[in-house]
Amino acid sequence: MSTEHLTHPIDETSRRALADAGLRLALVDTSDAAAFDGWLQADARGFLTARMSREALAEERGYLTTRRTTGVYDDSLPSGSPVGTVSSWPAPLTVPGPAEIPAWLISSVTVAPTHRRKGVATALLGGELRTAHALGYSLAVLTVSESVIYGRWGFGPATFATAWSVDTKRVRWTGPETAGRLSFTEPEDYRETGRAVIARVMASRAGEVGLEPRLADRLIGPLAGTPDKDEYRLVRYDSPAGEPEGFVSYTVKEQGDFTKHLVEVSYLAAATDEALTALWRYLIELDLVAEVRVSVRGVDEPLHALVSDIRGARVTGVEDHLWVRILDVPAALAARRYETDGSLVLEVEDALGFAAGRFRIDVEGGAATVIPTQDGADVTLPVTALGSVYLGHDLARSLGLAGRIRGDVAGLDRLFRTAVPPRLSTWF
Ligand SMILES: CC(C)(COP(=O)(O)OP(=O)(O)OC[C@H]1O[C@@H](n2cnc3c(N)ncnc32)[C@H](O)[C@@H]1OP(=O)(O)O)[C@@H](O)C(=O)NCCC(=O)NCCS
Repeated sequence: MSTEHLTHPIDETSRRALADAGLRLALVDTSDAAAFDGWLQADARGFLTARMSREALAEERGYLTTRRTTGVYDDSLPSGSPVGTVSSWPAPLTVPGPAEIPAWLISSVTVAPTHRRKGVATALLGGELRTAHALGYSLAVLTVSESVIYGRWGFGPATFATAWSVDTKRVRWTGPETAGRLSFTEPEDYRETGRAVIARVMASRAGEVGLEPRLADRLIGPLAGTPDKDEYRLVRYDSPAGEPEGFVSYTVKEQGDFTKHLVEVSYLAAATDEALTALWRYLIELDLVAEVRVSVRGVDEPLHALVSDIRGARVTGVEDHLWVRILDVPAALAARRYETDGSLVLEVEDALGFAAGRFRIDVEGGAATVIPTQDGADVTLPVTALGSVYLGHDLARSLGLAGRIRGDVAGLDRLFRTAVPPRLSTWF
């Protein structure tokens, strides 16, 4: 991917809006350790985590130079640390096909509690969307701490994630035999292999994103700032032919009874069905363990089919996870594949302007042609709803029922929904 995002000038509309409020919007020079450390500490504070150690700061500085890093400064304060933060970078988003589209990833949206509700987030998000659009990205994506924030900027929830608790004293493995090899390894020995496995996983499923080294490495083993980082264990799965196909990183905690430890999965990567079943079997059959917890799995995680007692493997939560903001309707819709052919005219509403308009989508042989049109609309929907159905998740019907998609909801559903629901298996 290009590095133009690092040097593209700061958005003028947002710069002026913040200047009117006595604040300064600026790109952070990530080669200036003191300036970058101030930004990193402000980001950590925004997410309510502890102050970062020197070691953690040095590690983050090493990794994060590939992101566009923006701060908001109140120059009337003596500290010089930002009161608002955001970072962004381009990465491939896997869309139905699977195919890839270059996406604009946004993270680290924080505003200091001392400066909340003065329009800082509005300036940061507006600036990100205008910058992404100016650089030619047809959509922006993010994961969120709260689901009430990003709809106002045109993002819609497009993937959902499940959390599980498995009572391993209650369930028995009833899934298939797997022939590959499981072995313990250490993050430093597995780094390159693990990154390659993750890249395979991400490219194979709509909703996943290509992970920069920092995001991949923290799934393989904990980063410097992780509490309890010495507790992590890493087990790899290799196929009978010796091909690396998956791994699981997890911690084990005693719970007052040595026969009933708790295993918390940090990340389970499976590039093949064999890797998935082998790693799940490994977790379920661990001795001296009573419970395995895992989160950020797909809504179609096949666990119930792999154990003797369905109720021994409980879904403990289902949450919105990846949010999609379409910026360029023809480019975004033409980048994915479709499972049925058909034709629809979509009227897209977008208060911020980027995606507004009427478009005809014609799908033939699974490939779409999308052009602006004056024809009558079959379906009218806000850009948030278009983002929600874009990756294939089963959302058109409920959004139609709620009155947020009008017209031929069933036709939209048939065209956009995919047999395998999209999934994003990590945070960014
Ligand atoms: C969420 C956060 C970034 C908002 O920043 P902010 O500068 O106060 O937001 P703004 O002043 O630009 O507010 C924009 C609008 O969003 C609303 N809003 C902002 N945060 C909200 C929240 N957490 N819940 C509900 N509404 C919220 C505001 O009321 C305002 O609404 P309006 O346009 O109808 O007036 C800030 O509260 C924060 O840093 N929170 C902790 C970190 C976090 O959760 N970040 C999001 C990570 S994904």
